[in-house]
Amino acid sequence: MQILDFNSKVFLAPMAGITDYPMRRLVSSFGSGNIVSEMVAINALSRKNAKTWRIADVRQEPYKVVVQLVGGEPDLFVDAAQFAYELGAYSIDINMGCPVKKIVGNNSGSYLMKDISLAERIIKKVVQATPLKVSVKFRKGWDSSHINAVKFAQMCENAGASYITVHGRTRAEFYSGQADWDIIASVKQAVKIPVIGNGDVTSPQKAKELLTYTGADGVMVGRAALGNPWLIAQIHNYLEQGTEEPKISKEIVKQTLLTHIKGLVDYYGEKIALGLSRKYVCWYCKNMRDARKFRENYVRIDNLNEAIAEVNRYFDNYIEE
Ligand SMILES: Cc1cc2nc3c(=O)[nH]c(=O)nc-3n(C[C@H](O)[C@H](O)[C@H](O)COP(=O)(O)O)c2cc1C
Repeated sequence: MQILDFNSKVFLAPMAGITDYPMRRLVSSFGSGNIVSEMVAINALSRKNAKTWRIADVRQEPYKVVVQLVGGEPDLFVDAAQFAYELGAYSIDINMGCPVKKIVGNNSGSYLMKDISLAERIIKKVVQATPLKVSVKFRKGWDSSHINAVKFAQMCENAGASYITVHGRTRAEFYSGQADWDIIASVKQAVKIPVIGNGDVTSPQKAKELLTYTGADGVMVGRAALGNPWLIAQIHNYLEQGTEEPKISKEIVKQTLLTHIKGLVDYYGEKIALGLSRKYVCWYCKNMRDARKFRENYVRIDNLNEAIAEVNRYFDNYIEE
């Protein structure tokens, strides 16, 4: 089943603090795959908070970006959806799955799985607010005693959602344990709109497994793309043509890490970017030898030229097995 007019069944998951402009640009530079923004707080967007406004501004991006909104007030959602439309969103996703206390305490994120009538009002308002299509991302339920993804999915469909994404964990589980793909399969059986399955997809083969097991129309990948921005395109190519890419060489990893760091510097400025880049250095070198020393050196660096030199030093001396 076609998911809107996306050209791929694979989605880069929304990840706060990660799927910013530099990451989105990098992921799309490797090939096909759909991109979701970080979550954007509707109250900050409606107040025209400059930082939030910038997060939601995707006008300069040549590929389609789904902009994800998070909040709990239907009227503020209307304003925020209109801003997202003006700021170039291809479609709007509503976050009804975030487990973080601060978000849940604001009647937002996965709290909305407990207040299904508020969730419904929000979806209906957002659907009417702009010409854009609207999707909803949610979880299996609140906790093991409140598993309501199927009922919630049916509500989303009736309220006008164009597709839905199901993360196979409860709010109580946060990111622990194993994602439940059976719940994704049950949701798929219960609605006619496209269903994207999410949780624990780490490779092209796992993506295919999820699609086969659940019958879902698409697959969303989060944590496995960290330090692995080519994964989304690799999954797309595997699903479409069966192609398995050779192992990524250290030269490509190095060039990609450098592109990522420079992209962060262009976007955030040198000081903030170098701080942010430390986590990426860990992710890109996750399975590499002697990375600890490299990371220890890297965290002490406070300018781009030295950062580039340190990355070059580590990778150029690394002997591939
Ligand atoms: C650092 C981080 C930030 C996240 N931020 C968001 C977010 O802004 N919106 C959202 O809907 N989900 C968010 N998630 C959840 C992911 O989109 C995804 O549902 C989850 O990681 C499970 O998929 P995975 O097993 O492929 O990682 C976040 C996850 C992580 C690890």
